[in-house]
Amino acid sequence: MRIAVVGAGYVGLASALAWSHLGHDVRVLERDARRVGALRRHDDPLGEPLVPELLDASDLLVTSDASEAFARADMVAVAVGTPQTHGGRADLSALDAACATIAQAARPGTVVVRSTVPVGTADRLQRDVLHRSAVVSNPEFLREGRAIADMLRPDRVLAGGEGGQRDLIEALYAPILGQSFTPVAELRPDLTPRALVWTDRRSAELAKYAANAFLATKLSFVNELANVAATTGSDIRAVIEVLRLDPRIGEAFLRPGLGWGGSCFPKDTRALEALAMDRGYDFNILRAVIEQNRRQLDRFVALIEGELGARRDVRIALLGLAFKSGTADCRESPAVALAQRLVERGWSVRAYDPAVRERPCELPAAVALCDDIRDAALGADAIVIATEWEAFARDLTALREVTRDDLLFDGRCLVDPGDAAAAGFRYFGICPATRH
Ligand code: UDX
Repeated sequence: MRIAVVGAGYVGLASALAWSHLGHDVRVLERDARRVGALRRHDDPLGEPLVPELLDASDLLVTSDASEAFARADMVAVAVGTPQTHGGRADLSALDAACATIAQAARPGTVVVRSTVPVGTADRLQRDVLHRSAVVSNPEFLREGRAIADMLRPDRVLAGGEGGQRDLIEALYAPILGQSFTPVAELRPDLTPRALVWTDRRSAELAKYAANAFLATKLSFVNELANVAATTGSDIRAVIEVLRLDPRIGEAFLRPGLGWGGSCFPKDTRALEALAMDRGYDFNILRAVIEQNRRQLDRFVALIEGELGARRDVRIALLGLAFKSGTADCRESPAVALAQRLVERGWSVRAYDPAVRERPCELPAAVALCDDIRDAALGADAIVIATEWEAFARDLTALREVTRDDLLFDGRCLVDPGDAAAAGFRYFGICPATRH
């Protein structure tokens, strides 16, 4: 199949590389000349596992010229950003511009919408802009740090459109649905084939928001539960273990923390809330979930203040800046928000994150960005864990040897309180140690 992908961002590039790996002829339209140059040199702009391997192996054509990108394409996939506007709604200006270009420069065919968009967007594009083509909604479920793996071994493939388009979408994803793709480095096909959920466009669009909003709800629930457990003297780790073993609840997304962040959950939950509100429906639970996430950091900050509030000249080693482990992305990161709260107290903050090399623009200037964990911890009164990198739980004894005082605040339920105590730390956190 000959495919043009509009947008070489995280979703567009991962989709393009995976489709190219399946044997499709893929061209990418990208307006950022620097990114075009980087991709032509096979430089990975995402820092995603397996992207370098696929870039080297593929014959992807990347261009800023729409006519070159669209020449001969049977299918155009749109994967441009839909960032948040002030009211929480999705900003569709890049998507609208991309579709206007497609209407003008591509021959009629199938247009696949990969971007996350409010319900009714694909219907509107079909009716008003792309009436000579068939519009299919095909939302992605790609996690940062696992985008290629999630493309090739998805939990499901979701697409919505007119019935006549189904065969084409099945052909697009055939080696993924059948799990018969050629392995990429250590990533091999699974034994179980994947389901294509075929529906109408509006259901596909809502399902994408629903998946992210449901996961955010699960997390806000466990975060709330951890806060309650701290007041009742219950062991939240044991409580979660009980939940985890119930297949009706599911074992994933149960780790309490400082709140969910990143480029998707905050934006998509607010967009869904706004979408419901615009149709006169108050999505009560979702509103509470968003509010809970906003408050989650407060308790942790209060915990730190409870121990250090009366002291002067407080030095904090902040471990983690990324919104989750496995990525360098600091967008809407609770760790960065925490850094802000700590420097507002007038405390000295030295931060380290194994993936973050460039200073995130939201990071307060007063925060020192260190090259290694020891440098951040040297002379600190407290270690504060803000991202769940496994490496932070290793070698606590070496860490204690360089800190000035013995406080460890774990915002991600990462460290075993017993290990912290054995290394000489006093442990505080979202999942506190309990006495039995
Ligand atoms: C998410 C969705 O998972 C993906 O399907 C979608 O298309 C894009 O958004 P991503 O933003 O990469 O992916 O993050 P994800 O791995 O889902 O984590 C979301 C947030 O939840 C992070 O802040 C993470 O730290 C937090 N989280 C996750 C927890 O606090 N505890 C958990 O147990 C799991």
